[in-house]
Amino acid sequence: MSFGASGPLMGRVRVPGDKSISHRSLMLSALAVGESRIEGLLEGEDVLATAAAMRAMGADIIREADGVWRVHGVGVGGLLQPDTALDMGNSGTSTRLLMGLVASHNITATFTGDASLSKRPMGRVTEPLGNMGADFTCSPGTKGNQYLPIMVRGACPAVPITYRLPMASAQVKSAILLAGLNTPGITTVIEPVPTRDHSERMLAGFGAKLDISTDADGARVISIHGEAELKPQHVIVPGDPSSAAFPMVAACLVPGSEVRIENVGINPTRAGLIHVLQSMGADIQLVNERIVGGEPVADLIVRHGPLSGVETAPEIVPAMVDEFPILFVAAALAKGTSRFTGLEELRVKESDRISVMAKGLTAIGARVEELEDGLIVHGTGGTPLAGGATIAAELDHRIAMSFAIAGLVSAAPITIDDMSPVATSFPSFVDMLASLGAK
Ligand code: S3P
Repeated sequence: MSFGASGPLMGRVRVPGDKSISHRSLMLSALAVGESRIEGLLEGEDVLATAAAMRAMGADIIREADGVWRVHGVGVGGLLQPDTALDMGNSGTSTRLLMGLVASHNITATFTGDASLSKRPMGRVTEPLGNMGADFTCSPGTKGNQYLPIMVRGACPAVPITYRLPMASAQVKSAILLAGLNTPGITTVIEPVPTRDHSERMLAGFGAKLDISTDADGARVISIHGEAELKPQHVIVPGDPSSAAFPMVAACLVPGSEVRIENVGINPTRAGLIHVLQSMGADIQLVNERIVGGEPVADLIVRHGPLSGVETAPEIVPAMVDEFPILFVAAALAKGTSRFTGLEELRVKESDRISVMAKGLTAIGARVEELEDGLIVHGTGGTPLAGGATIAAELDHRIAMSFAIAGLVSAAPITIDDMSPVATSFPSFVDMLASLGAK
């Protein structure tokens, strides 16, 4: 599919439900006793993989005609042994969080995934969950407990641990907290750099007992009291800020644009991109700020305007970790040089996002320098990029969408070899762009 130079983007859009919150809402509903309702669930492939896995482990999950999802949970401790392997597709969040759940149940489950997921490191969860007593076996030929397919034998009872995160990862934090739900005693995660806190918010909302404090070094200390009983909830999932990032940057870059993006989650642990774009000079207004389902939400009004280069501090990375590919595109059109560092985690996402973006941006005429932990981007000051290249999306939805937006501000169209990964997080992406007037 090709994306060419666009006239002004105009209108209102809604982006699909937040992927992180959608996964957690299914998992916690499946562990509550009774019926939960979920509104605004992201119906993307990653979340559907989580739904299928929770069904395979005993939860009753149905989508009503009105788009509301109803989940009858099995209760904490009640997950059943799945009959077949759990196919996680492209979804790292499903894999790592569900490994946490299985780790403290008396069941065995095998996790498999696509070519991208099978290259992503799992040792970061098998190590702490192993300390809690779970056992991991991987297929012969793969190294250690690092890569899928992996068979997890849960420990029941599991052993509570205190674990300091060696990398900033909400998935690792959440895996341990979810394992702690069915573990006697108190399980504690220490995070030196704060990461998205949806698990903590939603666990508390479902009735789990959590203690959250800050230690003498400024690290967040999160403790969960085990053998929790979760009460069913009505969850409303806000729009995903990581999906909103694409129309947001598109409206900043395409001359004459004015776009209103409604119902976007602005949780401070996710809102880094808005602040960075504003510091580059972007015209982004937050209106109608409100709390929906325990999460802060706003409508964003974004108008085209000139951008300047920027330098991001490593501390802000977790609050926008998935938004760097599209920020690199914004920087490629900004005036001056941008420098992004502290991005080592980008190398172990759905693709190596530093190297794939560096290669693709170079192919469409941008000037970039790849660093071990980041990227330097020399912007054009608003002059369209050359474009005209075919980009390999490498099974990475955010790479595909980033270069699609780059196509809107390029002299010659950009072709994406495979747009199908976009269905993992933003199935309506192409329709959304068309509704704003993009070609
Ligand atoms: C996620 C956490 C982040 C993010 C991913 C979703 C989550 O991953 O990149 O898209 O829902 O917890 P890490 O925990 O690896 O940073």
